[in-house]
Amino acid sequence: MEVFEAMSTCRAMRYLKTDEVSTDLIEQVITAATWAPSPGNSQGRDFVIVTDKEKIRTIANSIEGSMAARVASMDRPDKSHRLMLDGTEYLLKSLKSCPVLIFVCGKPIYPYGSPRESFVWSSIYPAAQNLILAARALGLGTVFTTFQGVAEPTIRETLEIPDDILIGCMIPMGWPERKFGPLNREPYDSVAHLNSWKGELRVYPPAQD
Ligand SMILES: Cc1cc2nc3c(=O)[nH]c(=O)nc-3n(C[C@H](O)[C@H](O)[C@H](O)COP(=O)(O)O)c2cc1C
Repeated sequence: MEVFEAMSTCRAMRYLKTDEVSTDLIEQVITAATWAPSPGNSQGRDFVIVTDKEKIRTIANSIEGSMAARVASMDRPDKSHRLMLDGTEYLLKSLKSCPVLIFVCGKPIYPYGSPRESFVWSSIYPAAQNLILAARALGLGTVFTTFQGVAEPTIRETLEIPDDILIGCMIPMGWPERKFGPLNREPYDSVAHLNSWKGELRVYPPAQD
């Protein structure tokens, strides 16, 4: 799949089938994640991939137990909030039967000698986005999540993640139950500033008749 098509249709996929994902496909998305840049090419990130059903159930139950009531009580002021929060509720309920959970973790190693936490996040997120786009190109659905933070002690214990490793995000992955499609995003010319904050970027003026 062409990269622009993958990017422009890569919705957060919270509706995932329970069907297994082959090790070969998992290896492909993790390989793509390792191609991501990092500060000084320090590559201070690791991927903990969970396919063990019992471990997934333990982690999912812990997240659902802490998050479900909180999400159920959140306001849904418009359609996009409603769709997102309905999807999140569904994901919380179905996470226990998701075929793969991927935790993108980071090591505080950069700058060498006096590592700063901000550089850990700078290593985690490009890798996570590469992973998500590679999955999309292979037809797999994923969603960035940070709500795993509510279950961090359970996750650390279940997956034996050392205390000095930060857990950046959790990416559930599986075959999509819903369609990928166009994204709801601000147009580029409302966020791009050419040569100064007041500058406008219009590379492609409307064609003249
Ligand atoms: C850093 C980050 C954290 C996120 N955390 C969560 C989360 O905890 N739970 C969740 O359901 N979605 C989470 N999301 C997904 C966003 O809600 C989603 O990408 C955004 O609403 C755009 O949705 P769309 O890609 O379907 O257009 C997160 C996304 C990012 C980038």
